Parts: sequence; C-alpha cells; structure tokens
Amino acid sequence: MNLLAISGSLRRQSSNNVVIETVRDLAAAAGHPTFELADIGALPHFNQDLDGEDADPIAPVEALRAAVRRADALLFVSPEYAHGVPGVLRNAIEWLVSSGALGDKPTAVITASPHPGGGSYAQAQLRETLSMLTGALVEEACREIDAIGPKIDRARKRITDERTLETLRTTLTGLRAATR
Ligand SMILES: Cc1cc2nc3c(=O)[nH]c(=O)nc-3n(C[C@H](O)[C@H](O)[C@H](O)COP(=O)(O)O)c2cc1C
Repeated sequence: MNLLAISGSLRRQSSNNVVIETVRDLAAAAGHPTFELADIGALPHFNQDLDGEDADPIAPVEALRAAVRRADALLFVSPEYAHGVPGVLRNAIEWLVSSGALGDKPTAVITASPHPGGGSYAQAQLRETLSMLTGALVEEACREIDAIGPKIDRARKRITDERTLETLRTTLTGLRAATR
C-alpha cells in the first residue's frame, strides 16, 4: 500500500505531524514501506482563475496532484482550528477537487488535539467533505485523538501511548482492507 499523508498543521513542533511520523513507523513495521507526506505549505490560495486548461501549471499544485495519483490510500491528519478545518488543509482540498485526483481512493481522517474534544468538529467536517469527494471514506479507519500531549514522547517525536498506537494500527488495517 502506497500511503499519502496530508497534514493540517505546518507547525514545526506539530503533534499531528508526530502522529504522521508514528504512522510511518507502524506502516513500515506492517510491511507498507511506501509512505509519503504531502507538501501543502507552498500552495497558493485556491482561485479558479489559476486552475483549468488555460492556466499556467503551478508546481506545488502539480506535485500535490501527482502525489495523490500515486497513492493507493490517503490519510488526512489534522488539528482543529476554531471548531473547523485549518485553512491550509481546506485550501489543499480545494486544489484537489477539480483535478479528480481523489477519485475513489480509500481515505481516512485522524484529528488530534491537546483538548478533550479530539478535534471532533474538524473530524466531522473533513469526513463530510471527503466522503462527497472520494466516495471512499473508510469510516472505521477514522479516529479522534484527544488530550494528545502526554501521549507523545517529545524527545523521540513519536506517540508512545499504547492505546493510541493500537488505534493507529487499526487505521492502517482499515485502509489496507479498503485498498484490496
Ligand atoms: C488558531 C487556533 C485555533 C484553535 N482552535 C482549536 C479548536 O477549535 N479546538 C481544539 O481542540 N484546539 C484548537 N486549537 C489548539 C490546537 O489543537 C493546538 O494548537 C494543536 O497543538 C495544533 O495542532 P499541531 O500541534 O498539530 O500544530 C487551536 C489553535 C489555534 C492556533
């Protein structure tokens, strides 16, 4: 399984990116060594005038669409901002809409927050949007991680909480099953 992770946080010390790096380790251990992280930080604001047949290609947009096309499955991992999806991630999704690149790729959403809600508003919004766009949202692979702070080993930049690791393994298993 070639898995593409797309993060909703650009922050260097992002806890969501710790989740992604932990999933990368778990994927390698489960025999799925092909794992990419999308680069969405350099995308321009979505504008229909910049898209379409007459528009000049935009390198970060082309790269994102190519990475999605290469992937067998997609994993969106995101914090919640103001009870919603971070703008940077919403923007990336808008660039993917018209390309058709999302197709029917099995897709899962993980939201993580230092707070008890686990990013449930962003989780619900992402699920709604992605189920409409891909038609292949793997509900049983989607997870909310609440109170993530103590679940991270900051020195190693990995999740070390055993229950959360098991949760992440079930996400991988669910995505894998959906790619067959
Ligand atoms: C602008 C902003 C809005 C936020 N809104 C929420 C929110 O609605 N719900 C929540 O659980 N956390 C919220 N937070 C806290 C984030 O969950 C926290 O900063 C988290 O560490 C961000 O994810 P990251 O560590 O992956 O960057 C917000 C943070 C920022 C900067």
